[in-house]
Amino acid sequence: MISLPTPRKDSEVSLEHTLAVRRTIRNIGPDPIPLSDLSQLLWAGQGITDEHGHRTAPSGYGVYPLELYVVAARVDGLESGAYRYHPREHALSPVPNGPEMDHLVALSGGQEVVKRAAVAVLIAGGVEKMEARVGARAIHSLNLEAGHVAQNILLQATALGLAATPAAGFDKAELDLPAGETLYMVLTGNKG
Ligand SMILES: Cc1cc2nc3c(=O)[nH]c(=O)nc-3n(C[C@H](O)[C@H](O)[C@H](O)COP(=O)(O)O)c2cc1C
Repeated sequence: MISLPTPRKDSEVSLEHTLAVRRTIRNIGPDPIPLSDLSQLLWAGQGITDEHGHRTAPSGYGVYPLELYVVAARVDGLESGAYRYHPREHALSPVPNGPEMDHLVALSGGQEVVKRAAVAVLIAGGVEKMEARVGARAIHSLNLEAGHVAQNILLQATALGLAATPAAGFDKAELDLPAGETLYMVLTGNKG
């Protein structure tokens, strides 16, 4: 397990300002991002925020079927590679034979923003956990939840002054992770 820096719960940047300036920014520069920024992004997406295990993003029936994976290309203090995020420990573990950024580039039809990304945060989940609660509505629920998680990450990236792009334009069938299918991803890094 690789411990992440403790995320902060407050800042000088207001939610209103963050909402007002959030934009899809595909022009990502070559500089690495600090591990503290990655820590903050993951906490925004799936961080645990109370003693009952509730998280930053809502989940139908509190099932929390989604997991975050990181494909790191340029993060200070973190070796390039694929990692799984563990919300309870606020830590990462390596994913052996996990996807690399080149793989994501290929699956996304060569999108420039993927080539430029310092980090891709992948939002993945298996439908089974949700099916047990909501039956046939499970995949709908999973996709709604992925949207909540992505927006949290995008807003946090904006508040940190990072460039960020949400992306669903990739071949999902080819990107199965231990948690299940990858539903959505956020590409981020310093502004170019
Ligand atoms: C579900 C979804 C999928 C998207 N997929 C991609 C993508 O694959 N690549 C990309 O560059 N932008 C993608 N975008 C970003 C949109 O192009 C962008 O949100 C839109 O142009 C509006 O601009 P804004 O985000 O700056 O408000 C996606 C956005 C959404 C909501």
